Amino acid sequence: MIKKNITIAIDGYSSTGKSTLAKALAKSLGYLYVDSGAMYRAITLYALDNGIIDDKGLNARLLIDHLPKIHLNFVMNPECGFGEIFLNGKNVEASIRQMTVSQWVSPVAAISEVRRIMVSLQQAMGRSKGVVMDGRDIGSVVFPSAEIKLFLTASDDIRAMRRYNELSGNGADVTIQSVKENLMARDQQDASRSDSPLIQTEDAIAIDNSKLSIQDQVDQILTLINNRD
Ligand code: DC
Repeated sequence: MIKKNITIAIDGYSSTGKSTLAKALAKSLGYLYVDSGAMYRAITLYALDNGIIDDKGLNARLLIDHLPKIHLNFVMNPECGFGEIFLNGKNVEASIRQMTVSQWVSPVAAISEVRRIMVSLQQAMGRSKGVVMDGRDIGSVVFPSAEIKLFLTASDDIRAMRRYNELSGNGADVTIQSVKENLMARDQQDASRSDSPLIQTEDAIAIDNSKLSIQDQVDQILTLINNRD
């Protein structure tokens, strides 16, 4: 039995199954789940909808000026048991998964002014512990003292297939090749940006889940948590 509320930070490359694992862990522990990537995606959607990203590219200065007008919050969906992201009062959980958002989210997430605001919102959500948060800088920047830090990996083909199945299952017109190219490009950008790049911290436990079922992963982590209690 888990004796006290802790913080679980899950980081890793795109489509390594972070959110699937985070949700399963949150469910089995009765913890809050926070998808930090959804927050960067929602800001990107705002930029696309407001002409801040156009054929000329991303206007970072203009996006920074707009930041005070962007309000994000999660609202619990009782049907799935997790929070869904709202952008200025509108549920954008589905629209932030579009390919156009995926194509622009890494440059948006590289802007320090954006990160500063997101990190403080994320820290506020995790203040009372009992939280599982997934992202790229959760163990390194958001919760450096998290009791459990995981770094997920999976093979490139498996990751591309997972994301392709998810997108095409939702009716998106994509190819495996285009999905794979987007994953590789985002990984490269997320790991090489100067502010809070994706890294595996020394105290993070690496899990390659290419061949592991979700239940295997949950069991492995619950054992880990129980052993440290
Ligand atoms: O987890 P995701 O693929 O939905 O995240 C989308 C993008 O957001 C990802 O390519 C990088 C960025 N991100 C980030 O920079 N820091 C986080 N904590 C979470 C996501």
